[in-house]
Amino acid sequence: MTSLDIEQAEQLIAYLREAGHIRASETPAITVLGGGVSNRTVLVEREDGEAWVLKQALAKLRVKVDWFSPPERVHREADGLRWLDVLAPAGTITPLVFEDFDHHLIAMQAVPPPHQNWKQMLLAGHVEQDHVVQFATLLGTIHATSATRMGELRPVFSDRGYFESLRLEPYYGYTATQAPAATRFLTTLIEETRSHADTIVHGDYSPKNILVHDDRLILLDHEVIHIGDPGFDLGFSMTHLLSKAHHLPEARAEFRDATRLYWERYWNIVKTSDWAVNLEERAVRHTLACLLARVRGRSPLEYLGEEERTRQAGVVVELMQSPPATIDRLAERFTNAFEGTGVHDA
Ligand SMILES: Nc1ncnc2c1ncn2[C@@H]1O[C@H](COP(=O)(O)OP(=O)(O)O)[C@@H](O)[C@H]1O
Ligand SMILES: [Mg+2]
Repeated sequence: MTSLDIEQAEQLIAYLREAGHIRASETPAITVLGGGVSNRTVLVEREDGEAWVLKQALAKLRVKVDWFSPPERVHREADGLRWLDVLAPAGTITPLVFEDFDHHLIAMQAVPPPHQNWKQMLLAGHVEQDHVVQFATLLGTIHATSATRMGELRPVFSDRGYFESLRLEPYYGYTATQAPAATRFLTTLIEETRSHADTIVHGDYSPKNILVHDDRLILLDHEVIHIGDPGFDLGFSMTHLLSKAHHLPEARAEFRDATRLYWERYWNIVKTSDWAVNLEERAVRHTLACLLARVRGRSPLEYLGEEERTRQAGVVVELMQSPPATIDRLAERFTNAFEGTGVHDA
């Protein structure tokens, strides 16, 4: 196998021609896309107007601390693309174009312009209720549909190696060593998470991995997908809504209400499933764990300053002492804490 760096346009074009993905005479436009930390991501615009995004997984992630993960994980993402296309609502997944096992890369259809990253829209203070409803429907549908097809999914998604090394260790495990007051809470939750094999879990369900095109949400970045605890996706995603409630005082009430709406719509889809028993209580704990992990773990939220991180850690550790029974109460107590009214019930 020859080495290939898809961010080098000449190398990439030579590769695409040689592998027969494009004609030998074709010269597509190549644009390196930024934003991700764990992959090289490149937009390929072909002469016929078709556009692909190629992803090649990095062995060493682009973060401050040394963090390694095998580039073979891109093939998990390919499996994710194939299956989510079946499991998720129509139009929310970019179809897979090809997969190359020699160079550990995949190509998928590009989301056409104009599109916006949902995280950037949210950080600008734009919380559209309809987007929140779509975010809930997308996740609820993946969870609920996958649970009915476990026989087919188990052979593909049972391995949790990437989830362990890219999520449980850096977010929950490492945080447990950094915040002694949360150690027991987190180690208990880690064990509990490992004991669940209920649904497909996306593992990176974040506004950062959502593009909005024509007011429709499209989900990206499936390399941590596995069968596990759906509460993780809920906690991971709600953490982004609540951390923005903390960070943006003028939009705080909107983000609090968005968190409630998100849960309500999600719950409507899954509530009759047997795996949803006790899910809300676990979702609360995953949310608390992720809220702490995003200020004390290996991958802190870049938009929170040092003071905000310390404040969020304090609020969350206090809430962990007696977690709210519902998402509704969690959203209220968490956001009230930053209004100077404390985290205790009135
Ligand atoms: N199919 C696509 N169409 C358009 N843009 C994409 C597509 N896939 C990825 N991108 C862009 O590249 C960025 C990084 O891709 P992502 O899959 O999230 O990789 P990473 O694992 O490195 O975070 C995305 O935030 C998005 O802006
Ligand atoms: Mg990403």
